[in-house]
Amino acid sequence: MTGVEVKVEGLSKSFGRANIWSDVTLTLPPGEVSVLLGPSGTGKSVFLKTLIGLLKPEQGSIVIHDTDLVKCSESRLYDLRKLFGVLFQDGALFGSMNLYDNIAFPLREHTKKSETQIRDIVAEKMDMVGLAGDEGKLPGEISGGMRKRAGLARALVLDPEIILFDEPDSGLDPVRTAYLNQLIIDLNAQTDSTFLIVTHDINTAQTVPDNIGMLYRKHLAMFGPREVLLTSDDPVVAQFLNGRRQGPIGMSEEKDTAQAEREMAEAGELDGLPEMKDQLETSPGMPDRAAVHRRRERVEGMMHELPQAAQDAIRRSYANSDGGDAGGSPWAENREREQVTVVAGSAPAPEASEQTDVVPATDGSAPTEAVPASGQAEPAAADDERPTDVHPRITEEVAPDRGQESGGGKAEGGAAEGGAAEGRHSFRLFGGRKGQDS
Ligand SMILES: Nc1ncnc2c1ncn2[C@@H]1O[C@H](COP(=O)(O)OP(=O)(O)O)[C@@H](O)[C@H]1O
Ligand SMILES: [Mg+2]
Repeated sequence: MTGVEVKVEGLSKSFGRANIWSDVTLTLPPGEVSVLLGPSGTGKSVFLKTLIGLLKPEQGSIVIHDTDLVKCSESRLYDLRKLFGVLFQDGALFGSMNLYDNIAFPLREHTKKSETQIRDIVAEKMDMVGLAGDEGKLPGEISGGMRKRAGLARALVLDPEIILFDEPDSGLDPVRTAYLNQLIIDLNAQTDSTFLIVTHDINTAQTVPDNIGMLYRKHLAMFGPREVLLTSDDPVVAQFLNGRRQGPIGMSEEKDTAQAEREMAEAGELDGLPEMKDQLETSPGMPDRAAVHRRRERVEGMMHELPQAAQDAIRRSYANSDGGDAGGSPWAENREREQVTVVAGSAPAPEASEQTDVVPATDGSAPTEAVPASGQAEPAAADDERPTDVHPRITEEVAPDRGQESGGGKAEGGAAEGGAAEGRHSFRLFGGRKGQDS
């Protein structure tokens, strides 16, 4: 299954008179991994639900396979929903069903496959997410990380072309998050599906995606290649990536201007952006990610539009990966160094695991979610998320090879054909400032 392009233009969503966001324009390039960042309550989950047609926007278009989801007929929408796999927060499993039945559920609901065929598919997907042998367990008997992976297996059974992840890292400790992130990269290599991950985990944003967008103050503040956001000197981005209190982002999202200005003056004296990390590579034994080659061509085509700092970061990453064929290259050293950081669990994620539990109760209880996105019948959440039972021991839950690095970098070929898709406002910064000179 190969991913498709998702082209969103001028999208606006309100509930009654409360505008959530407006004029959101972005293109998810086929088969690439994109991350949507943003403070809690900025409407990231609402965006995912709008993409799959569970919520209807007032304005704008969402084009997939030449069809606009916003304007198409109900029956066409029903078909298009089958292209999506969705991982809801905490997996959203049926509490009374074992993992096998949970994962088989979309196949039984939406296909005419025989039980023998279903058994093979479920076994394959459970193996992909490292849950082989756990078929008989109930969601309440397993850890939060395993529930996420079970939810992921269920999202995969219909071979979706687009996979949406709503805070896959919420409620997980940094080590488990690192394993899940590696799994996401490996799944992308295996499926070449288009991924969109909503998160506010900084480490995930730094190491997983090809592209990053950020929702802030009711707008998509930025969307483009990861290097653009990760090198941006915008105060909002810097605050977010550093997990700082000082800056324009406040507890209730909008700070009063005077306070924000005072804090930004202070923040100016603090350190800038965290050092940019390398993107995760696939585990040994996994195929190469086809999207890497397409992306390289795509990004080269837009290079001249990018801020200088982003261009420099992109060229550095090319130099690293091109030199990565030989053992002992600087690239290989980088990989080793990063691996140590990740495994040691010292990734800077000061608020990730706690804050996610304070997300508005709309996830899992909003009436709109009673409507299943095809195949992802949205059962009631299995049980309360109990972050306290997240266990420090990880051995029972970790697949043996996950996250191990070979040390040798992978060379990126530049010759692959690429989608030339590109969002119209890809690099629009806050308040319409375009680009940055640094
Ligand atoms: N079905 C709904 N009806 C009314 N308001 C909603 C609904 N779903 C979400 N909201 C509101 O939209 C805003 C954004 O919510 P959400 O997308 O869950 O934020 P995030 O995922 O970024 O934390 C919140 O203020 C929330 O209360
Ligand atoms: Mg949310």
